[in-house]
Amino acid sequence: MLHRFDERNIDAVDAYYNADYYGSMTGPSVNFINNLSLTLVSVFGAILFLLNSITLGNLSSFVLYSRKFSGPINEVANIMSELQSALAAAERVFRLMDEEPELKDKEDAVHLEEAEGVVDMEHVQFGYVEGKTIIHDLNLHADKGSLVAIVGPTGAGKTTLINLLMRFYDPQSGSVKLDHHDLRDLTRKSVRSQYAMVLQDTWLFEGTIFENIAYGKPDATLNEVIAAAKAARIHNTIMRFPNGYDTHLNENGLNISQGQKQMLTIARAMLLDAKMLILDEATSNVDTQTEIEIQKAMRNLMKDKTCFVIAHRLSTIQNADTILVVQKGEIVEQGTHNGLLNKNGLYATLYKSQFQ
Ligand SMILES: Nc1ncnc2c1ncn2[C@@H]1O[C@H](COP(=O)(O)OP(=O)(O)OP(=O)(O)O)[C@@H](O)[C@H]1O
Ligand SMILES: [Mg+2]
Repeated sequence: MLHRFDERNIDAVDAYYNADYYGSMTGPSVNFINNLSLTLVSVFGAILFLLNSITLGNLSSFVLYSRKFSGPINEVANIMSELQSALAAAERVFRLMDEEPELKDKEDAVHLEEAEGVVDMEHVQFGYVEGKTIIHDLNLHADKGSLVAIVGPTGAGKTTLINLLMRFYDPQSGSVKLDHHDLRDLTRKSVRSQYAMVLQDTWLFEGTIFENIAYGKPDATLNEVIAAAKAARIHNTIMRFPNGYDTHLNENGLNISQGQKQMLTIARAMLLDAKMLILDEATSNVDTQTEIEIQKAMRNLMKDKTCFVIAHRLSTIQNADTILVVQKGEIVEQGTHNGLLNKNGLYATLYKSQFQ
């Protein structure tokens, strides 16, 4: 890496050197040409004067005019170099402006005020790149207020499923439905505002703990924030910090542990009064006991709200209403914890590998 960096660095130095070299050349070259023309005018004019072709007055006014003429040329030369650097910058700006924005909502898209929370996926087929299908034929039904757990090996398509639910991508065929509306018939904004989510990679910003928790609800009061933090089992930890809720987090939350970060993002989601909740490996860095406590609190908070929970640790999802076992983009098994154990399929194998 150091070697590659050195190479790039030397290229950059050369480029800067060249740019400055040619940039500083313009002024002197234009001056040189101006002075050259002045010399030519003077010499040629002097000869004509000696031959009595023009008067001294003619000559001196000609010299004066040629001087005046060079002024604007100098200015144009200076502007030219500025114009060049502006063009280089404009290229970058236009590249950004040409970037394809998210497709527009349909003209007659419905704005869903408050969803019931019934989610359906019907014969969904999807791949991020053409020709490489990840989800083949997925059917799913989640009743309002149910807890749906999604388990499966790494790379099975669990996060992809969530991306489709939130309409970060559209399926290639089949449909994803919320309250029996196809997501494509709803405005993106209204779909996404129904969800609170805690994702695999936590995201905190530079600011106080209070600001970080209240991010999704700017008018939240301290009491609301404290209640959310208590539910996420992080309140006691926060109180142990020297400044409590005013403790400053630096970017990427480097001054707190991974598990604490996850609990802060969970508190943030709990504060949101969203109709549906998505937890993608949200508690993977929290110890198992705390994880179970958080999930209990979550159940209370999320009564009659639809929850999707992705977890590798199967101990935490045993009380789910439905467990979907995903493998290679297909739901291979579906049922409750006990039902799936009796079936002795993939879920039973995964479960046994963790507990025996
Ligand atoms: N943005 C993307 N572009 C192209 N392919 C992707 C993209 N995101 C994921 N994939 C591919 O899709 C497949 C499913 O990925 P996904 O993230 O859904 O897995 P997962 O089940 O969430 O795994 P994990 O348990 O590790 O989080 C993987 O094979 C991955 O390589
Ligand atoms: Mg994932």
